[in-house]
Amino acid sequence: MVVYLNGKFLAKAQAAISVDDRGFLFADGLYEVVRSYGGRLFQIDAHVRRMRDGLHALRISVPESFNLTAIARELLKQNDLEKSETTIYCQITRGAAPSRAHAFPATPVAPTIYVAASPFIPPDEKRKTGIAAVTVPDVRWSRCDLKTVGLLANCLAKQHALESGADEAVFVRDGVALEGSSCNLFIVKEETVVTNPKTNYILPGITRQVVLDLCRSLGIETREAPLFIDLLKAADEVFVTHTTGEIVPVVRINAREVAGGLPGPITRRLQAAFTENVRNNP
Ligand code: PDD
Repeated sequence: MVVYLNGKFLAKAQAAISVDDRGFLFADGLYEVVRSYGGRLFQIDAHVRRMRDGLHALRISVPESFNLTAIARELLKQNDLEKSETTIYCQITRGAAPSRAHAFPATPVAPTIYVAASPFIPPDEKRKTGIAAVTVPDVRWSRCDLKTVGLLANCLAKQHALESGADEAVFVRDGVALEGSSCNLFIVKEETVVTNPKTNYILPGITRQVVLDLCRSLGIETREAPLFIDLLKAADEVFVTHTTGEIVPVVRINAREVAGGLPGPITRRLQAAFTENVRNNP
C-alpha cells in the first residue's frame, strides 16, 4: 500500500512520524474521511472546505501547494483503486515540536500531513436491516464541530454500544440527542425530516448536508431543530448519516423498537435516492 506523508508517496511500512508529534502527544490535529466510488471522490470540495475551516480554527498552516484532491487521486492510481470503493483518510497535525510543551512551538514547525486510501466494503446488510443504538451522556468537549483526532470519548461510547449489544452510541447533552459516535442523527416525524442545527455540539457532517439537499429535491419537508430525547422516543423513523455508511436506519434505541423494528419508508426513499442520484454524481 502506497501512502502520502509530508510531500512524499511511499510504502506504508516506510511511513514514520516522530514520537514528538503533537498529534501523538496532544491530539493536536484534524482528520477527514472521504469516500470514493469507482475513482470518483464523493463531495471532495465540501471535505476540503471543512478541513480548511478546521485548520484555520486550530491555527495550523499547511503549505500552499498542499492539494488533498490531487493527492487522493494519485493514491487511488498508485494503489490500483480507481475501480474500487475506498475510504481516503487524511490527518494533519501541528507537527513535531522540539520538546513537549502545551504552547505552540515558538519557532513554527512543519505540520505532519498523512493521507491514505483503503479499499472499503460498504455495510450493505446494516443499511437494509438497520442498527440498534444506545444513548450515552455526552462527555466530549464543546467544540464537536471541529473534526479533531481527539476521539477518546467517541471510542469509549462506541465500545460501550458494542458491549451493550448495540451498534452505535448517541450522545445526549442537556436533554438533546445530538449525534452518534461517528455519525449525524436524523428523525422523521409526520413525514418531516428533522436533524439538529449546526452548532458547536455536532460535527457539520457532509452527508448530513447531502441528505438535507436531497430531501429538498424530493419535496420532503425538513427542519433543523434540537432533537430533544422525547422527540427521539416518539419518532416515526430514525436514521444516522456518515461518509462511510451513507444513510443507516436505526431500528432500536435502548430497549425501545423504532418504527416496528424496520427501516421506515422515508429512510428507504432517501437511501434509494442517495444511491441513484448522489453517489453516481459526486
Ligand atoms: N465520522 N459526527 C461525528 C462525530 C463524526 O465522526 C462523523 C464522521 C459524522 C458524519 O460526518 P460526515 O457525513 O462528514 O462523514 C458526524 C467519520 C466518518 C469517521 O470518524 O470515520
